[in-house]
This record gives sequence, C-alpha cells and structure tokens, in this order.
Amino acid sequence: MLCQMIAYARGVKKNAWVFLVLSLSMVLFACTGHKQVKQYRIGFSQCTFGDAWRQSMQKEVKRELSFHPEIELIVKDANLSAAKQVDQIQELIDQQVDLLIAIPAEAEPIAPIIEKAYAKGIPVILVDRSTLAKNYTAFIGANNYKIGSDAGAYANALLKGKGNVLEIAGPDKGSSADIGRHTGFSDVVKKYPGIQVSPRFSADLDKYPLEWEKQFTEKLQSLHNMDLIFAQNDRLGFAAYKVCKQLGLDHQIKIIGIDGLPGKDGGIDLVERGILKATILYPTGGKEAIQTAVNILNKKTYQKETELTTTVIDSTNVRIMRLQNEKLLAQQDDIDARQKKIEEQIAITENQANIILTISTTLALALIFGGILYYYLLENKKINKKLALQKEEIAAQRNQLIELMAEVKEANDARLNFFTNISHELRTPLTLIMGPLEDAMSSPKLHFTIKNNLDFIQRNSMRLLRLINQLMDFRKLEEGKMKLQASENNIAGFVSDIAISFKGIAQKKSITYKVISKTQDLQIWFDVNMLDKVLFNLLSNAFKFTAENGVITVTIDKLPNENMVSIKVEDTGIGMDTTHAFELFYQGQSSFRGSGLGLSLSKELIDLHHGTITVNSETNKGTSFEIKLPIGKSHLRPDEIQAEKASLNNIYEDEKIYTTNVEPVELIKETEGVQQKDRSILIIEDNDDLRAFLKKRLGESYEIHEAANGEKGITGAFDIVPDLIISDILLPGQDGLQITETLKQDIRTSHIPIILLTAKGSISEQIAGIKSQADAFIVKPFNLEYLEVTINNLLKNRAVLREHYTSELPTESKSNSANKIDRKFINEFTALVESNLSNEDFAVDDICKKIGISRVQLYRKVKALIGYNVNDYILHVRLQKARFLLAKENLTISEVSYRVGFSSQGYFSTVFKSKFGVTPSEFKEKK
Ligand code: FRU
Repeated sequence: MLCQMIAYARGVKKNAWVFLVLSLSMVLFACTGHKQVKQYRIGFSQCTFGDAWRQSMQKEVKRELSFHPEIELIVKDANLSAAKQVDQIQELIDQQVDLLIAIPAEAEPIAPIIEKAYAKGIPVILVDRSTLAKNYTAFIGANNYKIGSDAGAYANALLKGKGNVLEIAGPDKGSSADIGRHTGFSDVVKKYPGIQVSPRFSADLDKYPLEWEKQFTEKLQSLHNMDLIFAQNDRLGFAAYKVCKQLGLDHQIKIIGIDGLPGKDGGIDLVERGILKATILYPTGGKEAIQTAVNILNKKTYQKETELTTTVIDSTNVRIMRLQNEKLLAQQDDIDARQKKIEEQIAITENQANIILTISTTLALALIFGGILYYYLLENKKINKKLALQKEEIAAQRNQLIELMAEVKEANDARLNFFTNISHELRTPLTLIMGPLEDAMSSPKLHFTIKNNLDFIQRNSMRLLRLINQLMDFRKLEEGKMKLQASENNIAGFVSDIAISFKGIAQKKSITYKVISKTQDLQIWFDVNMLDKVLFNLLSNAFKFTAENGVITVTIDKLPNENMVSIKVEDTGIGMDTTHAFELFYQGQSSFRGSGLGLSLSKELIDLHHGTITVNSETNKGTSFEIKLPIGKSHLRPDEIQAEKASLNNIYEDEKIYTTNVEPVELIKETEGVQQKDRSILIIEDNDDLRAFLKKRLGESYEIHEAANGEKGITGAFDIVPDLIISDILLPGQDGLQITETLKQDIRTSHIPIILLTAKGSISEQIAGIKSQADAFIVKPFNLEYLEVTINNLLKNRAVLREHYTSELPTESKSNSANKIDRKFINEFTALVESNLSNEDFAVDDICKKIGISRVQLYRKVKALIGYNVNDYILHVRLQKARFLLAKENLTISEVSYRVGFSSQGYFSTVFKSKFGVTPSEFKEKK
C-alpha cells in the first residue's frame, strides 16, 4: 500500500515537472514571439560605401526602411571591386533573398550575375548605375549622359566657346555613370572648336588622397593655360580646387562638379563659396529604391525605369537650393528624431510587455505550484492517515501474535510436559522388558526363530529407549536444567574409546573404518556425559546411512590458529539435505536421515560447550560433520566447571543404545525343508528391520524379493513381475505413491496388486494412496495378521478376476473390476489370439512384438490375469471356437480344424477329444 502511495506521489511529481517545463517554454516563446517577425529579406549590394554621396544614399535607404519593419536588409560592400561584388551577389542568391538591390561597380562584369539572380526568380533593382544586363526588374537613377551634356553646355557658356578644358574622373571608369558623363560632356564640347579638351585624368581620391594630390599637381603643372576643369563629382572638384590654389591658379581655372550634396563641403556649399562654378544635382535614389522594392514584394504596380530629375546649381539658384535643402535636412532630422523616439518607445513597450508577461507567467506558475503543493499536502495527509491506520493494525496484529505465541508456548509446554511424563512412564516398563530380555537372550539353547525374534525385540527396545532419553534431554534443555559440567580430559582418548564401539559393526558391514588422532594427548574441558551423546549420535548416523563397502573416518585434530579442537566424522553414505539439518523434528521431504531428534540435540549440547557443529553433504557421495571445541577453560563460567573429576567408567552408558541401532540384521536361516513357493511378493521398504521382519514373516508362505528404495523397487517389479507388492509410502527417492502410479500405468506390471504402508495415517494421504490406484492401504503400526489377510484377499480377487476372463468367450463384455490397463491388455491379447485362430504359425513371439512386452512378462501377466500358460490359452481358445463352429455352423470337421489353425485333422480330433472327452464328429452329431 505504502509503495503504491509513493509511486502515485512520484507520478504526480513527474507530471509537475512536465508541466513546469511546458510553462517555461511558453514564457520563453511569449518573450520572443511578440517581436516583429521579418517577412522579407532584401539583399543590398553596394559598389562602395567610401564616400559622402554613398553614405547619403545609405541614410536615405535606412530612413525609408524604418517605415517597413517587416523588411530585413542584408548589406554587402564591394569596395569598388567588380569581382568582389559578383561573389557577394552570389552569396545573396544562395541565401535566397526575396529581392536584390544592386549598385554595380562596373557595367560589364556585373551583368552576368544580375542575369543569374533574375533567372533564379529574384527581383533585381539597379540603382544609380546600370549594367549590360538586359534582364532586371527595375532601374532607378538619373541620366548620366544628360548630366555630362549639361556640364559640357555649361562649360561652353562659361568659356564663351574658347579655352582649355581638363576632365577628371574617379577610379571606376567602367561604371555606367562614368561612361555616361564622359560621353555626354565630350559630345557637347566637341561641337565647339575653340574648346580644347586634354586627355582626362583619373585616380582614386577617396582611398589615396595624398597620392592623388601629388599626381594631380604634376598633371596640372604639365598643362598650360588650363581654363576649366570638369570634375565627375564635387569631391574631385574640391580637391582640384585645393591644388589650383596651391599653384596660384584658383582665379584662372573654373571648376564644374556633380552631385550637389547639401552640408559643409557638399556641392551646394562649394558653389555658394565660389569654389565650384556650378554643380549638377545627382539624387541618390535610395528612397525610391526601397519604395519600388516594397511595391514589388507586395505585388503592387511599380515603374520599371525611374529617371531621377537633375538640375544645374550655380550662383543663380544656389541660395534657394541651400535653403530648400536645409529645410529638407531639418525635416529629415526631425523624421530621424521621431523615428528614434518611436524606436525607443517600441523598445520600452516591448520591455514592459516582457515584464508584464514574465510577471503574469510567474504568477501563473506560482498559482500552479501552489496548487500542486496544496495537492501534495492533502495527499500527504491522506498517506499519513493511512499509515497511522496501518500502524495501528500492525500493532494490533502484533499483540494478537504475542498472545498467540504465548498460547502456542503454553500448548507446546503442555505437550512437552506430556511427552516428558510419558517418557518417564515408558522408561520403567521398557527397563522391565529389557532386563528379562537380556536374561532370555543369554540362554545358549535358544531356537533360531526365538533368537531372531528376541534380537529384534532388543534392537527396537533400545531404539525406543534412545528416543525417550533424547526427548527427556530436550525437556531438560528447554527448561534450562541441562547444565554443562565440564571436566578436563584427554579428548583424543575419549573420542577413540567411543569410536571403538563401532568397530564390530564396521567389520560386519565391510565398512572401512578409520579413527585418526593427529595429537595423542590433548586435554580440554568438556562434559563427558554430553559429548558422548553427540559422538554416539553422529557415529550411529554415519553407520546407519553408509552402505556396505563404504568408508567412515573419525579425525581428531588441534587447530592452533583458532585455539580449537576439531572432531570430524565423515562417511560415504547417501548424504542428506543440510539446510535444516539441526532443526528439531525437521525431516526434509523424505525422512531418510535421522529421527529429527539426534542432530538438534547434538547442536544444543555443543552450543552449551561454546563450540560449533557444522555439516557438509553431497547426495550419494557422503556427509561430514565437524565439531569444534575451545581449548582451555577461559570461556567457561565457574558454574559450568565440575567440582570433581567425572569418572570415565560410567560415561559410556549410551554405547549399547546407539550401537544396537546400526547392527546389521542377521537372520538365522532355516536351511532344511525349504519349500518351493508359487507366489511371490516384492517388499519395498527402507527400514532394514521392518523389511527383514516382513520378509521373515511372509517368507513362510511367499517367495520374497526386497528393495530398499523406490528406484530399486520399480526395476525389481519389472524384472520379477511379482504377484503382489508391499511398499512403504515414505522412501528415499521415489515414494510409494510414485511407485504405484508408475507400475499401474505400465502394461507389464499394471495387474500387480499393491499394498501401501505408512506411519502417517492422514485422510489426505489415504486419498492420495487410493488415487494412485493402490489396492490396499495399511497404516503403521499394523497388525501382521491383518496384513496377511489383506494379501490373501488381494490374491484371491485376482483369481476371481481370472475366472471371469476365462469362463467364456468372447471377453469384450467383461466386468469393470480390473483396472483399465489390464482390461485393455486382456482385450488386446484375446483379440490378437482370436484373429489368428486360423493361423497355424501364430506363436507367442508374435504377441510379444504386437503388445510390446518381453516373453517372461507376457507369461507372468497372462498367468496372473487369466491363470493360463499362454500356449495353453491359445489352444483353449482354438478348441472353444471349434466347439462353437461345430455346434452352430454347417461346416465339415476338416473345415473347422482348418479354421481354428490345425493343419492336421487327426491331430485336431485327438486334442479335441482329450479336452472335451468326445471326438469332434461325435460332438457334432450330438448337437
Ligand atoms: C560616388 C560617386 C558620386 C557620383 C556617383 C556616380 O561613388 O562617384 O559622387 O555622382 O558615384 O555613380
């Protein structure tokens, strides 16, 4: 119950953990989930970010994007390298951007990758500069050719059709802006013959300003009477102005630039300051690019080509342009500031939302855990309540048990008292039997039968005495009245003296018996009256359970390491189950070793000595007992030491009691007048005395076969096929019930009556006996006459049954009194004989083969069941059949003789006449 509760609580705990994890994931999801999810990714490939114009473009792009939080911008800077830009666009294609904005570094090399992106389905917007690619989605930018032409026209106006002109450009000569501007300018100034254009100067001012200045100074010095410089952007124009100033040419040379950026040093500022004569406004198109992209992504209409407006800014309009731009810039700054504010607000709101969410989730979790905790508390209370109840129950049960134990003890004491009293009572008559018995046995003129009987009485009287003594010892032990009275004696001598008592038995049973003392004089403290009981008991057991030609060894040894003496008794007997060896009355499944008294008594006695007794055993290999006793007397209390030394003369009172028990039974045989007995009995009994007794008594009327265990009993039954079996129920190995079952199920032995003998008379055992198909069940102690009558009856019944089988033919309808297997056998046997009546070659061997038993078994079985010799029976059936055929059928004598398996009619007539007193023809006539 408790386990169930814990498991349940564990289950709840596990669920709580699952819940906690789920809740936390929800919180995390909520914290991140409400942020703007980017819907589109735009790849932005810029040729360079290295100048003010491009930074202005980027600002514009950023500002416009702030209105579109659903867009993510992936920016790449090619640093004016066309090759690098190709790779970067490829990367953007690989990242599967939703749209590509490209400002190509150069017109030609970038074209294929633009085509590729477009072919992959990525919309492409080209800004500021175009490529040679035919396929793109949209273009946004000013007309650079027009800008070049405007600059040319403005130069001509400034020079009034005459003068020297130098064009200066950046490093990106391959860009469409450069090409457009150069071509536009050249085409216009070409028209004015008074204007001389020097080869243009191009170098990277943005990356290498010092180098640029040096080169340009040299260039300018090399040219004479220069009147105008056309700079492809305002930055180049401003740098050229600085060089002119250094060379004192600033008043002479007029400069025109492009871009017209607002702010300090921007084109507008430079025009206002008179540094540039004019600049042509070149819008970046960043804002338009994003607007177009948004339209494309949202599948709205858009313009494929967006041409941004340009205008010439010079002294005439520069002020208004500046003012306009300042206003625009102020507005843009305002937008930026607001945008920033909005972003901050969004961040704050997001933060607050997160905080609120976290707080509410924490609250929810707290509530849930509070709930779980509360639930636990309730569950705990319930469990505690149940536990308290169980505790009470257990306490009540314990009290009950204590009471019961007290009752049991009382009952036990009463029983033991009863046994002790009875034992006492028994000892007196037993002594009175044994005394005269010994007198009677000492008479030299005893008849062998009487001698045998007296021997038998003496052995069993001794056995009874031994049991009574042990029972009384136990009682003393239980009551604590058995006190150790140790005296110092030579243990080796003591053990050897006891061991010698069994020498004679060893000789009679052909047992190799050795007593080995590894030290001769070994004085230790022990109670002689107790230790002799133990040793006699161990030795008598060893001799009892060791078969002829076995080995028994007694070894006495000193164990200096343990300060102990060891006494070992080893045998090569049948072995025993050692698990409960020393338990009182424990006899294992088959009581084949010990009475259940001797060993437990021995253990108690050795315990009193503060020693140990152990056992080792292997079935059918042998058993070894070892006693260990402490050396010295420091382990003994003063009251455990005997005041006076024990007299060793009286100590062996147990000798006779124990040795008689194991003396082999020697029956004096009657040699003359032995009759041949025609019925046999197999006795299966492990108790030698009882077997011998039965053999002697039943041997007068029956041929007796013996078996001391189940296995031998079964093989004996198959070999001998006796007329009757007497078997004990409790046997080593297969017991009586198993034997009965085996034999009754085997066709060779199923007909043999079996009598089971047992000491235990319980109803359940009797039922088991009957179930096993035993024919009779006799409880020990039994009356011999009763046994003899039972044997007689069973054999008589067999005879009656036999009559039954043989009185008439056919046999199928015979009574149910025989067992199934026997009926089956008779049916089979008679059917076999009947069906072969006309077969004159039909022989006993044919029947054996068909039924599957040996010749001897067939003869014995048929004899037992039908009372006939097999051949006589066949002849009997043939003649009965012949008689039937002669009476009922209209057949000739020769036909009849042929039908019943006689080849010669003459022989048939002779046999018929000898059986029925008339010849076949006389018989036929009469009928
Ligand atoms: C900057 C720049 C601008 C010019 C534009 C043409 O990189 O040189 O000054 O107007 O590129 O694409």
